[in-house]
Amino acid sequence: MDNHVTWVSAVAYDGLTVATGKTIRYQGEEVALFKLSSGKIKAIQNRCPHKEGVLAEGIVCDDHVFCPMHDRKIDLSTGLVQAPDTGCVRTYSTKIENGIVFIGFPKAEELAS
Ligand code: FES
Repeated sequence: MDNHVTWVSAVAYDGLTVATGKTIRYQGEEVALFKLSSGKIKAIQNRCPHKEGVLAEGIVCDDHVFCPMHDRKIDLSTGLVQAPDTGCVRTYSTKIENGIVFIGFPKAEELAS
């Protein structure tokens, strides 16, 4: 599975505030990175599928984020917008090594397909 992504160091784990999103940019992609109260890290596409609200600025509740523009609720694990609304955002793998959070970006050929 690691063969399909490029791991990019994003930020120090201790530098992330629980339930406060952080925007990470890499080669034209924009990711919203979140540290949950459980300590887990989640990474999703930073733009809401509705009207491109910046999800890193949303309100985090458990393992969901509420878009700051019109309050759609998005699952941080699956990227799915919760009913009654519809849509989804891309999710990214994450890992922590030596106190650094890495985001797994799909390799270029995967993005194109
Ligand atoms: S832009 Fe996110 S709910 Fe409208």
